[in-house]
Amino acid sequence: MKGVIFRCLEELVIETKGMDLWEELLEQHCPSDRVYISAQSYPDEELVALATSVSKTLNLSMPETLKAFGTYLFSFLAKKHTSIVNEFHSFEDLILSIDKVIHSEVQKLYDEPNLPVIDASVLDSETIKLIYNSPRQLCFCAEGLIYGCAQHFNESVDIQQTTCSHHGDSMCTFIIKHG
Ligand code: HEM
Repeated sequence: MKGVIFRCLEELVIETKGMDLWEELLEQHCPSDRVYISAQSYPDEELVALATSVSKTLNLSMPETLKAFGTYLFSFLAKKHTSIVNEFHSFEDLILSIDKVIHSEVQKLYDEPNLPVIDASVLDSETIKLIYNSPRQLCFCAEGLIYGCAQHFNESVDIQQTTCSHHGDSMCTFIIKHG
């Protein structure tokens, strides 16, 4: 996972719980003197270990923690990659372009990023079906990112997950009602 994702977790933990907790988490789970550089890659297990400790500290489940993190991550990425996000003028427009536009820009900007496969299609004017597929199985984070995207466009959304790879399905499906 790229350093940019870790830096977002760092910002969220420091903002909500303070620097001492972040330093404690680093000490517990990372090699000494760890500093995250956005464009560099770090082990996925390190992110999972940090997020697991955060979930225990906040008394939240892992899915709840990853959802909250994903929601925050959208605004973090939107700030860092303003020109990419500003290409889109609506929630629907952005969601339909995650794979073909946004993550393909990310492929150009970062060296060998690990990205999911996302297939979004319109069911009707208020409904989008989004299929998420990734060996990293971060569907809860994906759901949070969709909430974050809705907040960005001041839209209200209702998201139902109808299949999940954590429950034996081959991929994760979200039915998103918006507007
Ligand atoms: C990684 C989904 C928007 C840049 C990821 C991951 C997910 C995801 C779930 C984690 C990796 C995985 O699951 O395999 C989404 C969704 C989005 C969205 C659902 C919109 C609602 C964006 C935007 C940007 C972005 C707006 C920046 C312009 C990245 C980057 C990574 C990433 C840099 C990390 C790649 C790595 O660690 O190697 N995305 N994303 N994404 N995404 Fe997106």
